[in-house]
Amino acid sequence: MFKLYINPNIKKGHINKEIYGHFSEHLGRCIYEGIYVGEDSTIPHINGMRKDVVEALKKMGIPVLRWPGGCFADEYHWKDGIGPKENRKKMINTHWGGVVEDNSFGTHEFMELCEQLGCEAYISGNLGSGTVQEMSEWIEYLTFDGVSPMANLRAENGHSKPWRVKYFGVGNENWGCGGNMTPEGYANMYRCYQTYIRDYNNEQKINKICCGPNSDDYAWTKTVLKTCFENTPEHLNGHMNGLSLHYYTVPGSWEHKGSATKFDEEEWYKTLNKTLYMEELVRRHSTIMDEYDPQKKIGLIVDEWGIWFDVEPGTNPGFLYQQNTMRDALVAGINLNIFNKHCDRIKMANIAQIVNVLQSVILTEGEKMLLTPTYYVFYLYKNHQEATLVDSYIETTMIGKEDHQVPNLHESVSVDKNGVVNITINNLSVNESYEVESYFTDWNIQQVKATVLTARMDDYNSFDQPEKVQPTEFKDFSVVDQKLKFTIPACSVLHFEIK
Ligand code: AHR
Repeated sequence: MFKLYINPNIKKGHINKEIYGHFSEHLGRCIYEGIYVGEDSTIPHINGMRKDVVEALKKMGIPVLRWPGGCFADEYHWKDGIGPKENRKKMINTHWGGVVEDNSFGTHEFMELCEQLGCEAYISGNLGSGTVQEMSEWIEYLTFDGVSPMANLRAENGHSKPWRVKYFGVGNENWGCGGNMTPEGYANMYRCYQTYIRDYNNEQKINKICCGPNSDDYAWTKTVLKTCFENTPEHLNGHMNGLSLHYYTVPGSWEHKGSATKFDEEEWYKTLNKTLYMEELVRRHSTIMDEYDPQKKIGLIVDEWGIWFDVEPGTNPGFLYQQNTMRDALVAGINLNIFNKHCDRIKMANIAQIVNVLQSVILTEGEKMLLTPTYYVFYLYKNHQEATLVDSYIETTMIGKEDHQVPNLHESVSVDKNGVVNITINNLSVNESYEVESYFTDWNIQQVKATVLTARMDDYNSFDQPEKVQPTEFKDFSVVDQKLKFTIPACSVLHFEIK
């Protein structure tokens, strides 16, 4: 019997809804086909946006969407993507398959998508190959309400009202595809570019995101923060609202990442062990951030995370299309629990990527669409959005093979604004179920509802069997003397809602 202790009276932080964020890049079939099919498509759409995909994402509770990249962002020139579609410039998508990008999905389309989804916009600007003027004009075009060259141009293109852009990234992976810069070099450019990201509307300030480290590059974090904050004048306070972190779970090596669907138990534990490394990364980067920002005003923004496999056999290697099994579900559940537990520092996270690329929540094939196990994890976790993280601790035992052991159980707990306790708990074991007894401090359990996602480790939803992996009502629990007892099935993600 494993004991879970929950004290809803010890409040540990606010879980920003943006921790449950997503990422969409001009890459493979993510934007084109996955989301946007154009106004002439026979696939049901509203202004070119697939109805089925938009509806599913709304149901899942999408709070924020990042766009247009990724690596694509530092080659994207936003003016090529506005105005009449027939006049839009075509370009080569050099990073992703060398295909022709016709720019038919641009600023207006993205902002319309966010409106249809009812989510916040997170735009990544081009620092690698774009100018300060270009970035500053994009902000003016998006957000200025008045008479100005860019606001006038926006009105000519059919949108007189400005939009709200809550987050703006000043470059992407500038240590790599975004310009191969040194931390000092990038940090100086960040200081300059961010100067011209004006807040035209004081009520709707733009959160500026600085390019942070790749995985465990602690030197990048340290040097960027030092260059941005040491010996800087007072007026630069607040010039950075977030620092990004990218970390992908790669089961094998970058050369041979492994198959999404064909793996054994050893690879299962190895993958989950690699995912759990996120905890150390967050802790160590946060410790460096504490030196420069002890009040935690700057968010750690994990704006690319998820599992990265070899592409599905027979698909374009530049399109990063992969299937999604229960292993992906566990990877999602573990990461989201980690982000919840670090919500004092993590203010946003964006899984890569939303549709048809890497660890997607949705896959499409022509007019068909399916929801992946990862989708259902976001669905089960959605009550954590805007809730309060509370103190919890679960007893565990280590399982798996020697070099890559993992704890058998992994949880996080929050209380929402109506006083409902939400527990999300993962069973990392491939074949063992566990009995758990939960102890609540000063809490009266009146009503318990639970939902579980469980299947065999390599089960997935395909276009032949789109509903193979689905959440179901979970009934294997009892409440005795204010203790919640349950048996968590092997290989599962479980959600309790307790009033
Ligand atoms: O998500 C795919 C790519 O991974 C992104 O374009 C890039 O930022 C990262 O290397």
